Amino acid sequence: MALDQFGRRIHYLRISLTDHCNLRCIYCMPDDMSFRPGAELLQDDEILRLVRIFTQVGFDKFRLTGGEPTVRAHIVDLVRDIAHTPGVRTLTMTSNGTLFRRLAQPLADAGLQRVNFSLDTLNPEKFRRLTRRGSLEEVWAGIQAAEAAGLTPIKVNAVVVRNDNEEDVIDLARLTLTHPWQVRFIEMMPFAGITQFQQDNNVQEIAMRDLIQAALGPLEELNGGELDGEARLYRLKNAPGTLGFISTISRPFCASCSRARLTADGWLRMCLLRELEVDLLTPMRAGVTDAELREMIVNAVWLKPWGHRLDEDAVPLNRLMSEIGG
Ligand code: 5AD
Ligand code: SF4
Repeated sequence: MALDQFGRRIHYLRISLTDHCNLRCIYCMPDDMSFRPGAELLQDDEILRLVRIFTQVGFDKFRLTGGEPTVRAHIVDLVRDIAHTPGVRTLTMTSNGTLFRRLAQPLADAGLQRVNFSLDTLNPEKFRRLTRRGSLEEVWAGIQAAEAAGLTPIKVNAVVVRNDNEEDVIDLARLTLTHPWQVRFIEMMPFAGITQFQQDNNVQEIAMRDLIQAALGPLEELNGGELDGEARLYRLKNAPGTLGFISTISRPFCASCSRARLTADGWLRMCLLRELEVDLLTPMRAGVTDAELREMIVNAVWLKPWGHRLDEDAVPLNRLMSEIGG
C-alpha cells in the first residue's frame, strides 16, 4: 500500500497514453499545437512494465487518458494487456469519443470497463468551434456505441468556458432527464500555454447550478453532499441520470485525493496542478531493476503535495494539460 506524507492512500493511476489528439479544444491547446515524436513517449512494453510495478505497490485503479488515448496505435491490444495484469481491478478511459463508433465493442471485449466522454455542447456548430475540428454527430454515435457495448454507466464531462458554452450547461443537464448518465461540469483550470484565457474565462460551480436550476428546476443533492470521486452529485426531479460538479477551483477535493499521474513521456506527476514530477522513463531505458523502480514510485508517492495553490496564483507551467492527461 502506498501512503503519502499526509496519510492519503494513493492507489489510482491515470496514464496519459499520448499527448496527441485529433481535436484542438480551445481550453486545452493552441491551434498550432506541436506534439512529441513517438520515440519520446512510453512504449507499450514500458507501460505494461510500469502497470505491473504500480500494482505491486498497491495501485488497483487505472485510467487511460491523453491527449486522446484512442489515437494511439494498437490501443485495443494495450487495453487487453493492461486489463489482464494481475492486480488491475478497475480500468477506465477518458476520451473525446470521436473513434468510439468503431472502437467501443473491441475495447469492451478487451476488458475496458467504463468511459468518461468529453462533450462541452450539444450544438453542432458550437462543437466544431470549441474543438476547432470535431463532429458532434461522430461523438454522439461513439457514446451510443459505448452504451450498447456495456461501457456503463456513461459519464459525460463538460469543461465550462465563459461566453463560449456557459449556457450549454442547460442542454447538457437536460440529458440526465432522458439518459441514465452522469453529466459532469468541470471548472476550467489554468495550465501553461493558454493560462490567461483559462483564468479569465473560468465559471464556478455555483453559477452553473444557478443557470441549471433557473431553467430546469431544483437540484437535489445526493450522497449528503459527500464527494463521489472528485464530483459532487445532484439530481433533477425524476431524472434517471445524475449531475456532477468537479469544482477544482471553488471547492477543492485535495483531502480525499488518491491519484497519481503518468505523463505520456514517462514522468510520474503527483498532482495535476503542481509541478513536482519524477522521471521514470530515463532510468527505465538506462536499465534500472523492478525493485529500484518500486522504490522510486514509493518515494514519489510519499512526497505528493497537499493541494493546489491556484488561490496564490501559482499556476503549473511546466506542462500542457494534454501531456498530463486530465
Ligand atoms: N481545465 C479543466 N479540464 C480540462 N480538460 C482539458 N483541459 C482542461 C482545463 N484547462 C479536460 C477535458 C477532458 C479531460 C481530459 O480534461 O475536457 O474531459
Ligand atoms: Fe483533445 Fe481532450 Fe484536449 Fe480536446 S480536451 S484537445 S479532446 S485532449
